Amino acid sequence: GVDPRPIPGYVGYVPGNARLSIPALRLADGRAGVGNGAKDVTLLPAPIAATASWDTGLLLSFGEVLGNEEWRKGTNVSLAPSIDVVRVPEWGRTFESYGEDPYFNGQMAIAEILGIQSQGPIANANMYLTMNQENNRFKEDSIVDRRTLHEIYLPPFESAIEEGHVGTVMCAYVKTNGSYSCENPYLLTTLLRKQLDFQGWVMSDWDATHSTVASAKAGLDQEMPGAKYYGAAMKEAIASGQLSTATLDEHVRRILVTMFRFGLFDKEQTGSWNSYVRTPEHAAFSLKAAEQGTVLLKNADGLLPLSDGESIAVIGAAGGAKPKASGGGSSGMIAPYVITPVEGIRKRLAGHAQVSYADGSDRAKAAEVAKAAKVAIVFVNTDDSEGRDRPNLELPNHQDELVEAVAAANPNTIVVLNTGGPVLMPWIDKIGGLIEAWYPGQEDGNAIAAILYGDVNPSGKLPLTFPRTAAEIPTNTVAQWPGVNGSSTYSEKLDVGYRWYDAHHVQPLFPFGYGLSYTTFKLSRVRVTPAKIAGGDSTANVRVDLQVKNTGKREGAEVIQVYVEQPQKNGEPPRLLRAFTKVDLEAGQSKSVTLNLNPRSFSIYDPELEAWKMPSGRYEILVGTSSRDLPLQRDVEVTDHQMHN
Ligand code: BGC
Repeated sequence: GVDPRPIPGYVGYVPGNARLSIPALRLADGRAGVGNGAKDVTLLPAPIAATASWDTGLLLSFGEVLGNEEWRKGTNVSLAPSIDVVRVPEWGRTFESYGEDPYFNGQMAIAEILGIQSQGPIANANMYLTMNQENNRFKEDSIVDRRTLHEIYLPPFESAIEEGHVGTVMCAYVKTNGSYSCENPYLLTTLLRKQLDFQGWVMSDWDATHSTVASAKAGLDQEMPGAKYYGAAMKEAIASGQLSTATLDEHVRRILVTMFRFGLFDKEQTGSWNSYVRTPEHAAFSLKAAEQGTVLLKNADGLLPLSDGESIAVIGAAGGAKPKASGGGSSGMIAPYVITPVEGIRKRLAGHAQVSYADGSDRAKAAEVAKAAKVAIVFVNTDDSEGRDRPNLELPNHQDELVEAVAAANPNTIVVLNTGGPVLMPWIDKIGGLIEAWYPGQEDGNAIAAILYGDVNPSGKLPLTFPRTAAEIPTNTVAQWPGVNGSSTYSEKLDVGYRWYDAHHVQPLFPFGYGLSYTTFKLSRVRVTPAKIAGGDSTANVRVDLQVKNTGKREGAEVIQVYVEQPQKNGEPPRLLRAFTKVDLEAGQSKSVTLNLNPRSFSIYDPELEAWKMPSGRYEILVGTSSRDLPLQRDVEVTDHQMHN
């Protein structure tokens, strides 16, 4: 790479070569739309909100909108998506990522990458690998065993490469087992090239390159954003024989072949950084994505949806004075506008009921405003950003006290969370309704109004666990996070996210996969076929068929989730998500649903064999609508097999 700074806008710029007709590379950030200060772009909801839809079709469209705007801005490499598994709930970049399950993240990655790349830009799977915390991120060393790497942290990248056909991968700031990601031969060559057969190119995260020879030999193709190690220093390393021209050629080949593969030598790209790229269709999509990703967590006595005639008090900075539509850091954006919640609610009510507002800075005033209305809605938020983890899981700025004060003043209190991830909610029993709206993008207020008034029936589900207490989380020792002497020890091993809660019999506040609706659903008639598969059969396919019925009075959508309970002979966590699908149903409607399991659904990674294997035994197939609501169960037997070589 060459220093991007002469070119305004793009966060990365590699000049072309006119003599050889090689086009320039223009790289831009943006996980919720085009970032780096770009104007006239669409601010989408944060990725964690989009994935809370549990709808891969929505992620495909998300990628299309993002990729389309990037391309029309002149970007040909889009630095999205961010697909690391959320290991630490305080992680400052949780909002930019997808969630805590490797399979889930992989499915979302495939969809978003296909969407981005369908519009012209080459996508970028980041951040590779074990980029799981911001604290000490330029030096942190993740100490993690190989089985855990394969079963938890690698699968999203595997899916991105094998099924998403992603063109580039970004190596991360951190170290894995003593070696920086961008000069780690095990990560860059053994896993990425040999095991996953990645054909695209690897670029470093910004200033994450630490060496010339070691990086080039380990498999780093491109230093970004400058040429500190891959410019003159590389010429010298070749001249002195420390590096072969064959190694250099291989790096160049990977970059050029990928550029050819994506048509960068053929396609004409007319847009520039100043192009106006947002459209009404993209705004409509931003609204839809925010609505689909909103998760209804509590609805005591059917308090929600609200009816138009009731007076409303909107409380909290995020409710009006300071809407929290996006997170900070390199995915931060210039929003064309943000509809605040109080604006959205006023517009929705169109004068049918009174809407008052208090920003919450004065608690007594907020309680007074709340008391005067039929229903009080408190908006609380975290200010998550790249570069720093949250210090703990508590809401900042005394917002717990604000909720307590409002709930004491009004029995019909609803809390809306604008957070990048889980928070503790000591007041949970004192409120009537709870909604996780994440960082919802430019249509914030319109989306929350549609949910509150039932114009849209909520159908989002949590892509990560919400703990009950600060101690009841998988990474609850300092050795695990933020680490001791620069090392974070992944001693929880496979017990990441809901796996830990299940393995330790800990009841979370809200489990992975959880989310309510204004209607009700019933699952029935589950059939799993065949009931027996051979341990060595790499083509085995197990079908899960069932019926799902909307048993309520309004249309809605339910997410069917299939978990496999392992025989647990080798220390594996009890249950793993292995398939899911979202189904739209009219009131009273039934549909048949089919999901498929494959050999990987029954496999564990054996670090001694350096291969996946299917332990024989009885596997329970659990079907339901959250990781803790799995009423339908069947088994599949994996039989012993002879190894044939
Ligand atoms: C971030 C990357 C980003 C890059 C360029 C880094 O600090 O970790 O996600 O793509 O900056 O802005």
